[in-house]
Amino acid sequence: MDVRECILKRRSIRKYSDKEIDRQIVVDLLECAMAAPSACNKQPWEFYVIENQDVLKEIKMCSRYSQFNSPLVIIVCGNQERSLSKKDNDFWIQDVSAAIENILLRATSIGLGTVWCGLTPTEMPTKKVKEVLSLPEYIIPLGMIHIGYPDEEKEERTQYNSNYVHYIE
Ligand SMILES: Cc1cc2nc3c(=O)[nH]c(=O)nc-3n(C[C@H](O)[C@H](O)[C@H](O)COP(=O)(O)O)c2cc1C
Repeated sequence: MDVRECILKRRSIRKYSDKEIDRQIVVDLLECAMAAPSACNKQPWEFYVIENQDVLKEIKMCSRYSQFNSPLVIIVCGNQERSLSKKDNDFWIQDVSAAIENILLRATSIGLGTVWCGLTPTEMPTKKVKEVLSLPEYIIPLGMIHIGYPDEEKEERTQYNSNYVHYIE
């Protein structure tokens, strides 16, 4: 599968089969995540791979928009102690988002389904995830990724809209 095909094929999958995901595949996904670009190459990310069934249940309950039957969830966080300081600090959000997208694309390329569920900046889900994982203040959960073998099919597509494109000639 080439990159364009993979990008168009990636869709949010919200129904999964029970099949577990091997640890080796998880490591592969995380290798791709950490290949992402980051401002000044600070790599301000942290990944919490939720394999424990009780924690998985609890973590899915943290947001009413993230209650899907995936066998695996990765909470992707920003580490404020490893990000650019002062006014440039918010670059971590872009860095961590790039890492998340890399996971989604790599997963798609090997037949896995994913959905990216937002945490920060929504206050309650962020707070709840921090509590469930006992995260220190400087670790901020940005997104929850559900991962599993898909039990629904979605068409590949672009959403190309020429109105959103501005050529400065
Ligand atoms: C920052 C962000 C937050 C999102 N949060 C949720 C969410 O909480 N629950 C959910 O089901 N989907 C969530 N999504 C997935 C979007 O709904 C989805 O990407 C969008 O509808 C386009 O569909 P597609 O992913 O199939 O292309 C989120 C996506 C992004 C990028």
